[in-house]
Amino acid sequence: MPGIVIVGAQFGDEGKGKIVDYLSENADSIVRYQGGANAGHTVVANNKKYKLHLIPSGAISGKKCYIGNGVVFDPEAFIEELETLKKDGINPNIMISPLCHVIFDFHKALDETEEKERKVGTTKKGIGPAYTDKISRHGIRMCDFVDDSRLRKRLSEEVRRKCKMLKSYGSDYNASEDAVFKKYSELSKKISPFVHHIIGDLNAQLDEGKTVIFEGAQGSLLDVDFGTYPYVTSSSSCAGGACTGTGVPPMKITKCIGIAKAYCTRVGEGPFPTEISGNVGEMIRERGSEYGTTTGRPRRIGWFDAPMIRYSSMVNGFREIALMKADVLCGMKKIKVCIQYETSEGAVKRFSSATAETAKPVYQEVDGWEEIGGCNGAEKSFESLPKGLRDYVSLIEKLTGCKISIVSVGASREETVVRK
Ligand code: IMP
Repeated sequence: MPGIVIVGAQFGDEGKGKIVDYLSENADSIVRYQGGANAGHTVVANNKKYKLHLIPSGAISGKKCYIGNGVVFDPEAFIEELETLKKDGINPNIMISPLCHVIFDFHKALDETEEKERKVGTTKKGIGPAYTDKISRHGIRMCDFVDDSRLRKRLSEEVRRKCKMLKSYGSDYNASEDAVFKKYSELSKKISPFVHHIIGDLNAQLDEGKTVIFEGAQGSLLDVDFGTYPYVTSSSSCAGGACTGTGVPPMKITKCIGIAKAYCTRVGEGPFPTEISGNVGEMIRERGSEYGTTTGRPRRIGWFDAPMIRYSSMVNGFREIALMKADVLCGMKKIKVCIQYETSEGAVKRFSSATAETAKPVYQEVDGWEEIGGCNGAEKSFESLPKGLRDYVSLIEKLTGCKISIVSVGASREETVVRK
């Protein structure tokens, strides 16, 4: 019963979509367990670039997909994404948990307004306010959403409340209950055929020995508990979220793979110990097209941070890493890797939220590598990669205690080097 969690080991945007798509070939189904349309997973396949936000990346290879209860579900974003995929010839086989919480326009208005008061640099997709409603027991779940009388009742309680809250923040948002009901009741008719109890299905698949991939969104350092709080997203993006966000118990998770870039990026506010300023950062940003898939914002760039990966490996339990975007660093004479931090308490080998703001990175400088060379559709071997890159991989393995089982050297499926 392989239950495999794919988790972002850094601040998100590591390339989880590519790896989920790659591994989907040998999987039976793929489930998203947290986050919402704040995610931006890119898959390059069939000579096309697909941008996914809510729909699991396994949809591209035609696998069975699920949206678990841990996701906050934006109906408008879902329908838009579904229609775009259909135009591209993909018709996802997808089921949505009735226990998901639904994102409404008032959540997005609250997100926008709260950002003016206290800047986290959110995607303004309503994620934080929707999770706030879930935890404070004001949320509207999918099972209420697809039933008109329950939706009407729940909106009659929530719209007034949200308008009051928004007014107190100085927002001019003022929707009528009828208008909100009309808009979302129409959307619910389109969504309702996808809503099914999925917990039994997922557990049965694992019991039968099938392979289920749990597709994480965002990254470990954005996890609401383990990340750089308060500069985090509002969900449990670490591996533990895979259980609470789907109804699959921990003993059915057999493996976790951490996804990390050969460098590091972050979008939004918050501490970033290895951040690079100036030309080198800009060069990496341009070469790596480091602009948010969801918001288009330029991503902040930093060097690979081994103490961060040690921490991430500990809280997620991964001992295996897919190292992404190694091609982006091609042609650089020297590359830095953070090996430890200097803090007021001395040298520290592992990231901690407590020292994230003040920790000073200590770097080891290594030689870079030249071009990786095309693969012309053929499978590339690790031995054919430039020596500088192979040495870089060995150094990261030594520093993190994790095996790098995949090295990604480009966006397409073919540019994936799997180590035997
Ligand atoms: P929220 O998830 O929209 O509330 O944003 C909270 C923080 O998480 C902000 O710093 C966002 O930039 C960041 N964030 C949210 N989703 C992603 C993602 O998919 N990739 C990278 N950063 C993200």
